[in-house]
Amino acid sequence: MKQEKDWYKELVIYQIYPRSFKDGNGDGIGDLKGMTEKLDYLKELGITAVWMSPVYASPNVDNGYDISDYRQIMEESGTMEDWERFRDKAHERGIAVIMDLVLNHSSDLHPWFQESKKSKDNPYSDYYIWRDPAPDGGAPNQWLSVFGGSAWEYVEERGQYYLHFFAKQQPDLNWDNDEAREKIFDIIRFWNDRGVDGYRVDAISYLDKGLDGRADMTEAFGTASCANLEGTHRYIREMAQKTIKPDNLMTVGEVIIRNTRDARDYTGRSREEFDMAIPFVPPVVEIRTWSPERFKKDLEETYECLKEDGWWARFLSNHDKPRQVSLYGDDRRYWKESAKMLGCYLHTLPGTPFVYQGEELGMTNLYLPSIEEYDDIDTKNYYYTMIREGASHEKALSESQIISRDNARTPMQWDGSANAGFSEARPWLPVNPNYTKINAERQMEEEDSVFRFYQKLIALRKENPVMVHGDFRLCCDREGPVIAYTRSLGRETWLAVHNFSGGKVRFDHEKLTGHGEVVISNYEEPETEQGSVTLRPYETLVVRV
Ligand code: NOJ
Ligand code: CA
Repeated sequence: MKQEKDWYKELVIYQIYPRSFKDGNGDGIGDLKGMTEKLDYLKELGITAVWMSPVYASPNVDNGYDISDYRQIMEESGTMEDWERFRDKAHERGIAVIMDLVLNHSSDLHPWFQESKKSKDNPYSDYYIWRDPAPDGGAPNQWLSVFGGSAWEYVEERGQYYLHFFAKQQPDLNWDNDEAREKIFDIIRFWNDRGVDGYRVDAISYLDKGLDGRADMTEAFGTASCANLEGTHRYIREMAQKTIKPDNLMTVGEVIIRNTRDARDYTGRSREEFDMAIPFVPPVVEIRTWSPERFKKDLEETYECLKEDGWWARFLSNHDKPRQVSLYGDDRRYWKESAKMLGCYLHTLPGTPFVYQGEELGMTNLYLPSIEEYDDIDTKNYYYTMIREGASHEKALSESQIISRDNARTPMQWDGSANAGFSEARPWLPVNPNYTKINAERQMEEEDSVFRFYQKLIALRKENPVMVHGDFRLCCDREGPVIAYTRSLGRETWLAVHNFSGGKVRFDHEKLTGHGEVVISNYEEPETEQGSVTLRPYETLVVRV
């Protein structure tokens, strides 16, 4: 699709986790054929772009985030023809196609790595990060991988260690090698030529490892130590110059953001790196540290920092996080209220909203009864690390259940039939038993469902430029569960108020009247008076003021 300048600002991006979206050939695993079948559903929801998690050839140690051939589609996802069909049918419906680029590492089964590990002097020997053992024969430094254990793995054949910031089957590529970098850019060009509209770029903050002493070798996590070094920014700019800018493609980088400078460096327009950034926060940290207060602080900071010269990716969910209604809302007593409130919050913030499959239905976490039933490599590593460190089985399991990325990866709940209509075969990961109540078919029939609410929010965005381009101003106490702000564009001002709690709270604002025009809300009649409103549990309210 030919794109205008800044087209990414108006998008609503829907993330598909292909394995879990829809099975089109009855083997229990979601695929491109299934995704194509559901394009009309997405069209009806109103989204304007799909970002698909990786569908390239992969041994699936990390479900596609370990790629063994960047130019092939993995068997389970289908064929290149299936991908092209998806692309064409998406484009026919005005839906842009965004691919996931995993370029920090490849699979250990990628032919480059298979060659690289053979010797120190083969043509691919320098495509990955190899180092000699420490004097005692151990790993070159103390760095740990994100998934637990050392970030270094020894290979007998070479007599050296290679670096892997994620699983040991995900060796880090050496971006300092000019030839390797050019080959990586060729991969992007390959997909550009196939009509891709944009990219989500995976784990891209650590291209420059700083192993020459600029990174801290004694810090536990290499990913923390070498994040955002100058070389990384240089490589991202080179990539953008050579492969992204010529076609005006959209990009969103998954990056580490520690402060406003990092945010500006990755997404400041003049920097020419990414259009937007998805800050990576490990689920364990997010679960322990999130609060409405923190949201307010972050909102203000990120708005101020990028309002002149950048743009925001807004998301509450993805395939690496627990379900948003379980994490930030109440997935029991106020399930519907909180699912809608979170949706309204997401869509009324400045920036481009990302909807993760199933959040438009209010899908919830699913705690599996034993570690064997989990698929996620991160969950398993987390569990076994806890056990090694002396935790009881019960404690290790209950913590793993909460942080598990599988919470977001259970099959999409299409209808009330067997396997939630996801597949005729037994799905690769259990379906959440609440599918008989929470499913797409049912919600498309019900007038006041979460699905209908999302549909309305997305339609509002298309009709009201204030939602896309309006200024943002926080207008609530820094303490407490209410998050409220105005969005203004020209003579139009909207006030959005969200109660992030299961209690009743009063919110004062001079512009509130007993009869303001309600744009959207999740309760029948708002309890507004002159100058205030009493918010009910998880109430959300947007009024024109
Ligand atoms: C971030 C991805 O979102 C996650 O799913 C993956 O495990 C890591 N990067 C490694 O590629
Ligand atoms: Ca399948």
